[in-house]
Amino acid sequence: MATLFRSLCVLVLAWLASSAPLLAAPVASLKSPDQTIALTVELDGDGRALYAVTRKGAPLIAPSRLGFLLTDALPLVRGFTAAGIETESGDETWELPWGERRFVQNRYTQVRVRLVESAPSARVMVLCFRLYDNGIGFRYEIPDQPNLKTMKIAEELTEFTVAQPGSAWWIQGGEWNRYEYLYTKTPIDAVSTAHTPITMKLGDGTHLAFHEAALIDYAGMWFKRGDGQRFRSMLSPSSQGAKVIRDTPFATPWRTIRIADDAAGLYDNDLELNLNEPNKLGDVSWVKPFKYIGIWWEMHLARSSWASGPKHGATTANALRHIDFAAKHGFRGVLIEGWNKGWDGNWFGHGDEFDFTHATPDFDLEAVTAYAKKKGVHLVGHHETGGNIAVYEAQLDDAMKLYARLGVDAVKTGYVADAGGIIANDGKGGTAFEWHDGQIQSRHHLKVVETAARYHIAINPHEPIKDTGLRRTYPNWVSREAARGMEYNAWEGNPVDHDVNLVFTRMLSGPMDFTPGVLSLDGQPGHQLKSTLAHQLGLYIALYSPIQMAADLPENLAKYPRELAFISAVPSDWAETHTLAGEVGDYALFARKDRNSDDWYVGGITGANPRSLDVRFDFLEPGKTYRATLYRDAADSDYRTEARHKIVIETITVKRGDVLPLTMAAGGGAAIRLVRAK
Ligand code: NOJ
Ligand code: CA
Repeated sequence: MATLFRSLCVLVLAWLASSAPLLAAPVASLKSPDQTIALTVELDGDGRALYAVTRKGAPLIAPSRLGFLLTDALPLVRGFTAAGIETESGDETWELPWGERRFVQNRYTQVRVRLVESAPSARVMVLCFRLYDNGIGFRYEIPDQPNLKTMKIAEELTEFTVAQPGSAWWIQGGEWNRYEYLYTKTPIDAVSTAHTPITMKLGDGTHLAFHEAALIDYAGMWFKRGDGQRFRSMLSPSSQGAKVIRDTPFATPWRTIRIADDAAGLYDNDLELNLNEPNKLGDVSWVKPFKYIGIWWEMHLARSSWASGPKHGATTANALRHIDFAAKHGFRGVLIEGWNKGWDGNWFGHGDEFDFTHATPDFDLEAVTAYAKKKGVHLVGHHETGGNIAVYEAQLDDAMKLYARLGVDAVKTGYVADAGGIIANDGKGGTAFEWHDGQIQSRHHLKVVETAARYHIAINPHEPIKDTGLRRTYPNWVSREAARGMEYNAWEGNPVDHDVNLVFTRMLSGPMDFTPGVLSLDGQPGHQLKSTLAHQLGLYIALYSPIQMAADLPENLAKYPRELAFISAVPSDWAETHTLAGEVGDYALFARKDRNSDDWYVGGITGANPRSLDVRFDFLEPGKTYRATLYRDAADSDYRTEARHKIVIETITVKRGDVLPLTMAAGGGAAIRLVRAK
């Protein structure tokens, strides 16, 4: 049960209001619950607000400015005095309906600083900082006030001046391919404009990840380097002119910084979830974690097509074949793409023709869903929009209603269009082009999630807006893409380090529908995955999602019965998660406990570098023995040779305290299923 301790003290700083100080003057200071992270807020001689952060006495964020540029009024940047400070602390534990862990602790200290601009405009802006032992979040709260009824934000001027040199792992923001880029590692002062999460390792070993929480009715934040190691927010653009238009009162998303000694501390960290509002949907027992196969990889291999015609993949016969396979091997879901009208011709970035309630003539939706029901299988619905949200929103309610009637309780959506190519209603009877992570699209995603919730349907968007922890508030927002997924391995290929690069960057934001499980290790002719077979199994533990695909063709999966049995068994919902070892962009190993049994799973992946480590079974229940089935790389497994298919599968007995030496090959991985003995 949650316990909440709150203390509140209000202090009016009248002395500060009298005259603007010439030098920076401290306004507020605060320490994290364990006293290691310290914040100071100050006003400079021009009445401009700055904040700075240290950890264990070492500077992390040097004084960094705050404020806004507006399109219809003077900037909200200078001439402030502090008119009041409120501090608060909290310690509660709350429960995730599904996730990497069941219980989340929310222990923090908080300070709210009320800033008033000099007369005559006297506009008010409140800075709210919340400190955790492993991070910090802060946001602007803009109260209702006579001189600021509607805020038209040209730019948010939040700075993050990283105080020590180090390395950064990042993808570029504001480019045509949305989030689907390869991660690069550069010195911090060589970053250009990045998406968040962006991960950094400082000279003293401190690990940081900058991101945001609760991105609602606002533009996504890109992380733009100014000079040296000074970054500032750059909001995703909008056809509205202003990047964000909001009536007051409102609060911005939280700007977040995870802070840890190592990569594991960045991952085992619930900062953004804690900064989101609690579940708004009430009983969400209808949101089911599951695994699925699909009529999907065959299209990416170009063996069949989304479009109708002789190569059409989504035929009734093909659907029934997939349902039989799913039922036989214990998969709850079958994704079927290309089932509806609108795929013929050029749908990419257009989507005018998409019809979300009418199937193609060779696909009998009613018969397929009835057959699935008989077999205990659920279709995973698909709504590709081609980025045309005007067309989609007009059909949204009918589309969800149809699926709900047929027992389809999870829908994958898609927004295949170049960045800036979202087609939205402009509110004046026409359409306008928007960004995938702009304010309009942030509203659209919530509209889809809220509509789906009314029909008890879970949503998994591809080409989405990034995850900022909203699954806490809307638990039917189960997964999303927002990175380069498996699909690239069908076409041009992902480099060997790509999967492991995701772990301590993209995956910090939340679940990803990466779609692992290409056991054949083959893409289109001439394209082989840069992965060992064990790596494919390790992905189910390393890249968390409550819905996990087995992506390969059924006939390929069937060729690997032992590995397929592991995929059938591995849960996608966990009671606990612990990062056992890892380095950003290099390797990662996790232990996760099943929510629905006493079983544990250990698994991980590596990039180009082979890795030997000791697995310490310190997490197992004392006094119990476990039958451990190991799926590991062979001594000569290597993603560059035919030996990438070599795997060793063996069963041993382990108990708490045992240590198991484990080697992951180049491009390798490992997975261990630990079943508690009766
Ligand atoms: C891109 C998605 O990521 C992929 O999974 C899907 O198959 C295609 N779009 C078509 O919707
Ligand atoms: Ca995609």
